[in-house]
Amino acid sequence: MDTIQGFKRNAYCGTWNMEHVGQEVSVCGWVQRARNLGSLIFVDLRDRTGILQLSFDHTSKQELFDKASTLHAEYVLAVTGTLRERESKNPDLPTGDVEVHVTDLRILAKADTPPFEILDDNQVNDTLKLTYRYLDLRRPSMQKSIRVRHQVAKVARDYFDEQGFYEIETPMLTKSTPEGARDYLVPSRMHKGKFYALPQSPQQYKQLLMLAGFDRYMQIVRCFRDEDLRADRQPEFTQIDLEMSFVNEEDVMTIQEGFLSRVFKEVLDVDVQIPFPRMPWKEAMDRFGSDKPDTRFGFELVDISDIVKDCEFGVFSSPIAAGGSVRLINIKGAAANFPRKKIDKLTDFAKTYRAKGVAFARMLDGNVSSSYQKFLTESENEAIMKRANAEDGDLLLIVGDAQNDVVYASLGALRCECAKQLDILDPSDYRFLWVTEFPMFEYDEEDNRYVAMHHPFTAPMDEDIDKLNDDPLNCRAKAYDIVLNGVELGGGSIRINTPEMQETMFSALGFSKEQANAQFGHLIEAFRFGAPPHGGLAYGLDRLCMLIAGNDSIRDVIAFPKVQNASELMTACPSLVSDVQLNELALATTVEED
Ligand code: AMO
Repeated sequence: MDTIQGFKRNAYCGTWNMEHVGQEVSVCGWVQRARNLGSLIFVDLRDRTGILQLSFDHTSKQELFDKASTLHAEYVLAVTGTLRERESKNPDLPTGDVEVHVTDLRILAKADTPPFEILDDNQVNDTLKLTYRYLDLRRPSMQKSIRVRHQVAKVARDYFDEQGFYEIETPMLTKSTPEGARDYLVPSRMHKGKFYALPQSPQQYKQLLMLAGFDRYMQIVRCFRDEDLRADRQPEFTQIDLEMSFVNEEDVMTIQEGFLSRVFKEVLDVDVQIPFPRMPWKEAMDRFGSDKPDTRFGFELVDISDIVKDCEFGVFSSPIAAGGSVRLINIKGAAANFPRKKIDKLTDFAKTYRAKGVAFARMLDGNVSSSYQKFLTESENEAIMKRANAEDGDLLLIVGDAQNDVVYASLGALRCECAKQLDILDPSDYRFLWVTEFPMFEYDEEDNRYVAMHHPFTAPMDEDIDKLNDDPLNCRAKAYDIVLNGVELGGGSIRINTPEMQETMFSALGFSKEQANAQFGHLIEAFRFGAPPHGGLAYGLDRLCMLIAGNDSIRDVIAFPKVQNASELMTACPSLVSDVQLNELALATTVEED
């Protein structure tokens, strides 16, 4: 292994055990802890593989013992010694049966007392941890997560190489387009007043690579989107980006199933069942209230609109009259887990999804108590319980709204929230799902126009082509998302590959011919020069790693992540720049320094 100042490391700390007793050990690492018991000194030495105990005792040379007594946490050491069996063993440590009786100790670097202890359960707030991210990264769980990320990326490169994909880089300085999220802009010094945009994804370039004849492309690529952060969103994130020529949806999905089963086998030694189930978007919304359903548990949505449409209770009947619906979820066996106070909290939670309220019914010891029964007839009440398949111990949560989106979003979120509170989610139960047949468009209330649900390069389903102009909201796309346990891991589609269809698409999105040409003329023109049928997909590498490493946030699998307000605490960016830099770029800011 490595040589430093004449010292040759022969293995990592975490690799030693009883089999190696008597062997010479040369290891490097950081002091996790030094314990001076007077006549004995124990030091836990840590590297990326684990911890190994070093020991110094009355048989150690005085000079060596004196040096060992100066050691503090996070000093960097190189040590040589003999591996021996420990007197008092530590069953919690893989190396806990052995220790190194040190004969040579080199202090390679001293360390100030760190602002927090390098321990997994150190209860330190995120701000401090992220300000000293390089120290936070020393924690064993962070080391593991970053290792998982490396392994996933390696499997991706290996697998897609074996499947004939070329890894091809695409530009980071690209053209700004108004579709999608907000762009991160980069001012040009050579073209004053003009800007590049950092790529939100390499979508157009990868399609052009198919036109260029590369047939199968992959790239592990950084993408940038200036959008609000969440646990599964960062302003810069990484995609495993893929594109294939001469394929249909099934071909793309089959290749991806091969990849995902390989990743789970190689990284976690978990066998996942392929092919994954496929579910049309409409079914996912109707059953789970979500286009990324967590299918590890039930509590599926049930439509009761037909039962309550003519009832006396306006909270139920009015939304239906206004074109919406009333639906419920049955939280099986959970009536006793959710007393009134908890239901009030769930109602507040549902309100964040724009629900106006949540009605409930509880069946306990044969008695039904509900927030709405006195407003309905007996037969209406009975019909609801019957439709919900309600049994003793069940809790029904009901949401009605004039907008179906609100009913779906709030009940979809409530079913997940209840499952979380009931602690029934097993993170090692991996339920993959393809969601297919997405709508081509959604209506953007703010902009007052249709926008592409996936992106404007997605092909419509053959049987829905006529609806592109006539009935856009019912036009389905050849788009698919891969979902795992309620997380959208990736998404893709079969693309448009004729100039005519691409122009039709832009016109359906409300672009004039001139606007479409100014923004996307290069692509439309390219389609005139022999564009193979093609399609692809991109995974969020961060999200995939988060689920494999068992983390709750993608921040835990990114070495240097941004925080909620998109800043990076360690280097304190973004930051102001000098007037000289601004002048060179012909820029001025309207914001004064704090
Ligand atoms: P899409 O926009 O669905 O598709 O992105 C693909 C996947 O990237 C991940 N992702 C993110 N991860 C972390 N932070 C973010 N801000 C973020 N945004 C997206 C998600 C998502 O499923 N060019 C198309 C793909 C294609 O059609 O081939 C695209 O980018 O896991």
